[in-house]
Amino acid sequence: MFALVLIGLLVRYSVALKPNVLMVMIDDLRPALGLYGDPDAYSPNIDKLATKSFVFTNVFAQQALCAPSRNSLLTSRRPDSLHLYDFYSYWRDSVGNFTTLPQLFKDHGYYTHSIGKIFHPGISSNYTDDSPYSWSDKPFHPQTEKYKEAKVCVTSDGTFARNVICPVIVDAQPGGTLPDLESLAAAKKFLKSYKGEKPYFLAVGFHKPHLPLKFPVEYLDYHQGEVELPVNRWRPPLLPTVAWNPWLDVKNRDDIKKLNISFPFGGMPDNVTKEIIRNYNAATSYIDSLVGSLLDEVDSNNTIIVLTSDHGWSRGEHGEFSKFSNFDVATRVPLIVHVPGLSNAEIRITQLVELVDLFPTLVDLTQVAPALEVCTKNGSNSILCTEGQSLVPIMVANARNQLNKAGGKRAVFSQYPRPGAFPSVTPDSDRPRLEDINIMGYSIRTTRYRYTEWIKFNHTTFMPDWSKVYGKELYDHLIDPLENMNLVTRSELSYVIDSMHKQLILGWRFA
Ligand SMILES: *[C@@H]1O[C@H](CO)[C@@H](O)[C@H](O)[C@H]1NC(C)=O
Ligand SMILES: *[C@@H]1O[C@H](CO)[C@@H](O)[C@H](O)[C@H]1NC(C)=O
Ligand SMILES: *[C@@H]1O[C@H](CO)[C@@H](O)[C@H](O)[C@H]1NC(C)=O
Ligand SMILES: *[C@@H]1O[C@H](CO)[C@@H](O)[C@H](O)[C@H]1NC(C)=O
Ligand SMILES: *[C@@H]1O[C@H](CO)[C@@H](O)[C@H](O)[C@H]1NC(C)=O
Ligand SMILES: *[C@@H]1O[C@H](CO)[C@@H](O)[C@H](O)[C@H]1NC(C)=O
Ligand SMILES: *[C@@H]1O[C@H](CO)[C@@H](O)[C@H](O)[C@H]1NC(C)=O
Repeated sequence: MFALVLIGLLVRYSVALKPNVLMVMIDDLRPALGLYGDPDAYSPNIDKLATKSFVFTNVFAQQALCAPSRNSLLTSRRPDSLHLYDFYSYWRDSVGNFTTLPQLFKDHGYYTHSIGKIFHPGISSNYTDDSPYSWSDKPFHPQTEKYKEAKVCVTSDGTFARNVICPVIVDAQPGGTLPDLESLAAAKKFLKSYKGEKPYFLAVGFHKPHLPLKFPVEYLDYHQGEVELPVNRWRPPLLPTVAWNPWLDVKNRDDIKKLNISFPFGGMPDNVTKEIIRNYNAATSYIDSLVGSLLDEVDSNNTIIVLTSDHGWSRGEHGEFSKFSNFDVATRVPLIVHVPGLSNAEIRITQLVELVDLFPTLVDLTQVAPALEVCTKNGSNSILCTEGQSLVPIMVANARNQLNKAGGKRAVFSQYPRPGAFPSVTPDSDRPRLEDINIMGYSIRTTRYRYTEWIKFNHTTFMPDWSKVYGKELYDHLIDPLENMNLVTRSELSYVIDSMHKQLILGWRFA
C-alpha cells in the first residue's frame, strides 16, 4: 500500500527537480495559534499557511528542553539514545556518528543552509551547528543575539532591567534591531539570491517566544483584550514533588524576582500571569508576521514547508511556568506540513505523532534517499536509522479520507530528568546537568491517558531502575484534558495503571 501511495509523488518529483524544503523552527512555541483554536492568539500568517497544509493536532516532543529536543528531532533518535538530557554533549563524540536530517539532504543533492536557532548552540552541536556535516555553508547567527540577556527592558521608573516581560522599541535596542529580524533578513536574502542548480533545504529558527519576551512593542496592539487565566493555575494536590518544575528561570528575572515568590511552590499573582500570557501571545504574533514575510519569498508550489517548535510552555497551568516537565502543556507542539500537490486545502490530522517522525517523513516525501530503517535495539551500529516513523501513510490516508487505513501509533513518549525527588536550586531541578541526574520521568501518552513514572536512573550507565519509583502520575484525558487529577492511587483503575506501566517499559518500539 505504501509504495502505491507514493507513486504519484515519485512521478512528480523524478521528472522535475526535487522540491525545496523550508523548515521553520519557533523556539518554545506551544500551539498558541489561531489555527489551533487559541482564542487569545493572533497568527494570521501561520493560519494562512495551515489552509494549504497538513495540520497535526497531537504532536509531542521527546523532551521539553531545547537541546535534547532539537538533537532528537534532527537525528530522529530519542534522548536515551543520544544520552543527551542537558546541553553538554555532542552525539558524534559521545555516542555515535549519526547522520542528521539536513546532512542526509546535503549528501543527496541538496544545498543545505541554517539560519538562526536550528541546532542548539554550544557544546551539543560542537559550537558549529554540526558543521561541516549538516550544512553546505556557514550557518547564520544574528549579531544581536549577544544581547539576549542584556538589561534592555523598560521598567516603570525609567530604568532598564532583565525581565520576563520585555516589549521594546526596536530602534532603541543595541544594534538597532532584534535577532529574529536579522534572521528574517538573512533568510529573505538567501531566497532572493539563491540560483543554485540544487534544490535547497533551508532551516530558519526564530528565537521568540522563548524568554525573555522581547518583541517590538506594537505587537501588543493585537492583544489589548481581557486575557483568560488558566482554570488550573494551582499545583495539583496529588502531584508528586518530583514532577514539579520550580521555574527558576522565570523567578530569577528582575520583574518576577521582586515579587519574592517563595521556593519551590510559591504561586504567581494572577495579574502577572495574565501579563505573561499577553506578552507571550504578542511575541508569537511578532514571529507570525516574520513567518508571513518569509513565506512571501517562497514558491509554495515547489517547496515543502514544515513549521514546528521544540516543545511547549506552561503559562500558569498547574501553577507552573516554562517547559521542564512531562505535562501536555510542556511537550505538545504545533506541526504544519505543506506538501505541494498533496495538501491543497487544510487537512487536520489527529493521530498521535512525535518530533522524531519528521526526519523519516521528509525522506519519504522527497524520496531523497531510501526509506530509513528503524534503529536496532542496541543502537551501536547504524549511523543512519530512525526511532520514529514516516507520517506519509497517515497524511495520505487523511488526504483521501480513508481514516481506517491511517494506522499510526498507539502511544507516544517523552521523558524528563531530575536531580532529586524534591525541587532544588542547586542542582537546578528544571535543568539538571547529566552528572546531577538521578531520576528519570518516563511518560507515555495514548489518546486517552498520560501515564508517567519517575524512577531511579544511573547517569553513568544510562540505565533506568524500574524497581525504585519516586512518583507516578495517571491522567485521563477523557474527563481531565488539563491533567489536573492524578488518578494513580485509585485502586479501581489498577488495571489501567498496570497496562500503562507495561507499555511504558516496553517503550516506543512496541507502540
Ligand atoms: C562521521 O561521518 C562523516 C560523514 O557522515 C564522515 O565524514 C566522518 O569521517 C565520520 N567520522 C568518523 C569519526 O567516523
Ligand atoms: C568538534 O570540535 C572539535 C574542536 O573544534 C574538533 O576537534 C572535533 O573534531 C569536532 N568533532 C567532530 C565529530 O567533528
Ligand atoms: C521582597 O523582599 C524585599 C526584601 O526582603 C522587600 O524589601 C520587598 O518589600 C518585598 N517585596 C514584596 C512585593 O513583598
Ligand atoms: C499586579 O498588581 C500589583 C498590585 O496589586 C501591582 O503592584 C503590579 O504592578 C501588578 N503587576 C502587573 C504586571 O500588572
Ligand atoms: C501555483 O499553482 C497554482 C495551481 O496550480 C497556480 O494557480 C499558481 O499560479 C502557482 N503559483 C506559482 C507561483 O507558480
Ligand atoms: C547490535 O546489533 C547489530 C545489528 O543488529 C549486531 O550486529 C550486533 O552484534 C549487536 N551488538 C550487540 C552488543 O548486541
Ligand atoms: C551507576 O552504575 C555504576 C556502574 O555499575 C556504579 O559504579 C555506580 O555506583 C552507579 N551509580 C549510582 C548512583 O548508583
